[in-house]
This record gives sequence, structure tokens and C-alpha cells, in this order.
Amino acid sequence: MTPLETLLSRKSHNKLISPAPSKNQVEIMMQAALRAPDHAQLKPWRYQVFTGSSLIQLGEHFVAASLFANPALAADKIEKIRNKPLRAPMVIVASVNLVEHQKVPQVEQILSAGASTQNLIMAAHFMRIGAIWRTGDLAFSRKLMDELGLMKNESIVGFIYLGQEEGTKKPVPLVEQTDFVEWR
Ligand SMILES: Cc1cc2nc3c(=O)[nH]c(=O)nc-3n(C[C@H](O)[C@H](O)[C@H](O)COP(=O)(O)O)c2cc1C
Repeated sequence: MTPLETLLSRKSHNKLISPAPSKNQVEIMMQAALRAPDHAQLKPWRYQVFTGSSLIQLGEHFVAASLFANPALAADKIEKIRNKPLRAPMVIVASVNLVEHQKVPQVEQILSAGASTQNLIMAAHFMRIGAIWRTGDLAFSRKLMDELGLMKNESIVGFIYLGQEEGTKKPVPLVEQTDFVEWR
């Protein structure tokens, strides 16, 4: 595959199994993430890497935040939440640390964090590592952000699940461009 063909074949995967990306692979993903467009070089992105036993800790943080929002949560639901991070051998929590800046409104910082996260996912794809970007209620939980030690102005951008892709890959559907692109 040419690099362009690889780029165009990116697809999310929700069945991700061991092995987790290696330390070297994570470093490459992070270099890609840190190459995102970034107005005024604010570098607003932060990444926390969970793998092995720290995935269990992440599950406990998920449970604490969920119980904070709903103390009456049923036991089976709590268990499901606890196991969420175990759906892949690695989860990277991407966040954005927003600052007040004369020239860079916060929406630009959020866009930059999105671009950074996509760079990370794309670098994973280039190394044949499967990924899926997830959010859900927990991504917006201040309690979870506190549990994870995020700063006051920092928010979760997404939970990036990473690992080897299980099962056969469905072909990437071709999107009809005319619905989205206008030549002027
Ligand atoms: C900000 C953001 C949040 C997302 N949150 C979820 C999520 O919580 N659960 C989910 O199944 N997909 C979520 N997605 C979508 C998947 O990551 C994925 O893009 C989608 O399933 C389409 O698959 P594709 O990437 O192969 O086109 C999210 C995507 C973005 C950009």
C-alpha cells in the first residue's frame, strides 16, 4: 500500500485484543500527536496512557465517577462500567488544557486537540494498530476529570482504545464527495 492508500483505509475497530502497542510505538504515536496544527504553539494537548494493571485503575475511576453521578446505580451496571477499559489492551485518555489567549479562542484549542488525537490514531493505523475514539457521558464528567488529575481548565477529548484488530476488516465505504465538496 502507498502511504496515501494507507491513509484512505483508516477505519475504527471496536474489537481490540493484545498485544498492546509497544513503548516505542506509543512514542511514535505521541510524536504524530504533537505535530498537530497549533495556533500560537500553545500545545494544549495532554495524554495519559493506560495499559496492563492501570486499565483496572481506570475502570475504578470510571466507577467512582459514575457513582458520583448516580449513587443508586445497579450492581450489574457498575460491573459493566468497571470493565469498559478492558475492551482493549491500551486506552489513552486525550485531554485539552484550555487557556485564555488574545488570538486563540478556546474553540481553536479544542480543534487542535481533535487534530492531535486524529494524528495519534492515524499513526497507530500506519503501524497496523487498531483504534477507536470513544467518549460517552464519562468523557464529560468533571468527577472523572478530577479522579484523573486533570487541571481546572482541562477537559477530556476522548478515550482512545488501541490494540490488535480482531476479526476480518470490512472494506472502507467510499463516501460520495459531491454531498460535501463544492468547487467554486
Ligand atoms: C469526538 C468523538 C467521539 C466519539 N465517541 C464515540 C463513542 O463514544 N462510541 C462509539 O462507538 N463511537 C464514537 N465515536 C465514533 C467512532 O470513533 C468512529 O469514528 C465511528 O464508529 C465511525 O467509524 P470509522 O471511524 O471507521 O468511520 C466518536 C468519534 C468522535 C470523533
